[in-house]
Amino acid sequence: HSSEDQAILEAHQWLTKLYHHLLRHSQDGKQALAYLHQRGFTDETIDQFQIGYSPNSRDFVVQFLEKKGFHRQTMVKAGLLTTNDQEHYYDRFRGRAIFPIRNHIGKTVGFVGRAIDGQEPKYLNSSDSSLFQKSKLLYNFDLARSEIRRKNEAILFEGSLDVMAAYQANVKNGIASLGTSLTETHAKMLRRYVDTVLLCYDGDDAGQEATYKALKLLKKTGCTVKVGAMPHEYDPDSYIQSYGENAFVSNVIHHSESDMTFLMRYYKKDFNLQQEGDRIRYVESVIDEIAQLERPIERDHFIRELAEEFSLSLDILKQELNARIQSNQ
Ligand code: CTP
Ligand code: MN
Ligand code: MN
Ligand code: MN
Ligand code: MN
Repeated sequence: HSSEDQAILEAHQWLTKLYHHLLRHSQDGKQALAYLHQRGFTDETIDQFQIGYSPNSRDFVVQFLEKKGFHRQTMVKAGLLTTNDQEHYYDRFRGRAIFPIRNHIGKTVGFVGRAIDGQEPKYLNSSDSSLFQKSKLLYNFDLARSEIRRKNEAILFEGSLDVMAAYQANVKNGIASLGTSLTETHAKMLRRYVDTVLLCYDGDDAGQEATYKALKLLKKTGCTVKVGAMPHEYDPDSYIQSYGENAFVSNVIHHSESDMTFLMRYYKKDFNLQQEGDRIRYVESVIDEIAQLERPIERDHFIRELAEEFSLSLDILKQELNARIQSNQ
């Protein structure tokens, strides 16, 4: 590391401790603490993830970092302070619940700040810096790594709060890409550790689109993909809140669907299956996907399912399938 990177790491370490202390022990932090408790986070989880509170002040962190001898300009690069004119400096995070983002060896390299009183934006993340690159970092990878290895499976969530809620539910192989879609770098990194990735994104349309994209990318990288399906109006965190930890583990994690089952469900959204033309195009998209499956037994399973669902001739669907397999080769 350059000496500048070293300073950035140190500043994050100090601030992680300070923010955490303020949440746990200051009058100022009481509202944030109540907010976190109300969201179901226990004190144990708050300590484990070093969750904190950033005071609602323009220059609390400016003053603190100055006393510690850090250069303001470096702290701007670190994403901890902002300035418009290189003269006046301000705290980036104000009046927020703070979730430290650790790199793969457990050092804090950024923060997620969640509004606790309706402040906009709802989420404020550290900007990318030399040490914090969202396209390369997987949230919670340091804590999850051994469990990911042991299970030969990683669970990919949309948000850091989903990871923490799952961790609290004893699901400890959860990770997340931070406010960005999964990148090829992420996918390759995961592939080095696991055969299987379980996608557990939000149930809304954005979550389903993100699931589709991540699924394609992970398959291309050689992973087996499963999908933990969520009701439309839930995400893993709110699901656990509403239905409890056991329901989450048994309904979502243990009863995940295969990639094909997800795709068949996903493509249906784009077609009006009451109409013949749409129905045919739907069947064709699904056959395209089935043709990409490697195992003959899987291809057989899904082509039968398709024939049955639409009362189509299995022979004809098989012919279509074989034609596509040949043209893929
Ligand atoms: N996120 C972000 N910036 C945003 C919105 C979201 O960085 N403007 C990240 C956060 O890490 C968040 C994740 O993307 O945890 C998922 O976003 P979203 O599903 O919209 O968050 P919610 O589940 O709605 O957040 P909450 O439960 O806190 O209301
Ligand atoms: Mn949202
Ligand atoms: Mn979402
Ligand atoms: Mn969400
Ligand atoms: Mn949520």
